[in-house]
Amino acid sequence: MTPDLSTVFTGLRFENPFLLSSAPPTESESNILRAFEAGWGGVVTKTIGMHPVVNVRGPKTNFIRADADSPNLSMKKRPGTALHSSWNWELISDRPLDWWVGRLSRIKKAHPAKVLVASIMAGSGSDEELSHWQTLAKACQDEGVDALELNLSCPHMDRKDMGSNIGKDQQQISIVTHVVKEVARVPIWAKLTPSTTDIVVEARGAFLGGADAISSSNTFTSLPLIDPETLEFEMNVDGFTSMGGLGGPAILPLSLAKMAQMTAALPDRSFSGIGGISNFAHALNYFLLGCGTVQVCTAAMLDHAVGPNVIRELKAGMTEFLEKNAHRGWKTLEDFRGLRRDRVVPHSQIKRPENADYHGGYETEARSGTGRGSS
Ligand SMILES: Cc1cc2nc3c(=O)[nH]c(=O)nc-3n(C[C@H](O)[C@H](O)[C@H](O)COP(=O)(O)O)c2cc1C
Repeated sequence: MTPDLSTVFTGLRFENPFLLSSAPPTESESNILRAFEAGWGGVVTKTIGMHPVVNVRGPKTNFIRADADSPNLSMKKRPGTALHSSWNWELISDRPLDWWVGRLSRIKKAHPAKVLVASIMAGSGSDEELSHWQTLAKACQDEGVDALELNLSCPHMDRKDMGSNIGKDQQQISIVTHVVKEVARVPIWAKLTPSTTDIVVEARGAFLGGADAISSSNTFTSLPLIDPETLEFEMNVDGFTSMGGLGGPAILPLSLAKMAQMTAALPDRSFSGIGGISNFAHALNYFLLGCGTVQVCTAAMLDHAVGPNVIRELKAGMTEFLEKNAHRGWKTLEDFRGLRRDRVVPHSQIKRPENADYHGGYETEARSGTGRGSS
């Protein structure tokens, strides 16, 4: 019998737990249709907004590669390199809401069994700005989308009331989530920025506002490297660069750390893991930490724009994993989800050499205050 890859996440049934995240692979109707035909269980659309968007001149994304036999890191195309990360300074969809209306319903009608999530983003600096969140939410759900993902995490917004600038503020996150919740008939996922001190604080804010799940991570705030020959940033326009987002393999361990903090502190909540996933072994990390779905961007961008080979490998990898572990009685994702969540403990709880104690830098255990699972 073929193992069952299906799962239920925030009340929605997925034929498999693998989604394309909000990014170029989901920026158009044709891409999304191709993605569903390729086998993705769901997609999150490129973020839809209501404010004017004009991207920079020239490339919006590039890829940092590492040499095998030297410490070289560069975006320069050269043989014998491995992917280190993606770097982008692309804004949200430059198509207006009107462009998406009509297309979302067509996509949903063509693939009723697939999960279509609309990513939305607006400002939060005034009641009028907050009402834009509701306009976007209502328009998308009237199109039949299955869920809404709130972009509280884009790392390159000038506006202080948008993207990762509000994703750093627990209260703003709560307010925005609550405002959307007021009109939402579908589940709400809040996509958080990893560029904060303690992501558990922001996650609590989102749940307080009524979020059904957290998606994490968006890209990490970062700069392109400077070419030592030309002294120019590897991504620039007329010599100038700006903050952008790092994704791909380099962020896998970083995103996992953020996810582990949240799933330990909020074990009964729902999480969608994102960051550095290109095969099932990577996705498995997120599942074992407690995630119910995962999302992919960089790996899919590099595989025919929507990742047909990536999704094939993810599904084959999960099938093989379930077959290999059938003797443990594992039949679905729920049987192994979260199995390693409790293995992330305070440093002082890791075993020392025989007869040696360590109390987290304190003299005695009494003062160390390190409880299992404390965040
Ligand atoms: C070019 C590019 C554009 C992106 N645009 C969006 C976006 O519009 N909205 C959003 O929520 N995330 C956006 N992201 C972030 C991705 O959805 C994802 O969270 C991030 O790239 C980490 O996943 P990865 O390591 O698989 O790339 C973008 C990423 C890239 C590389």
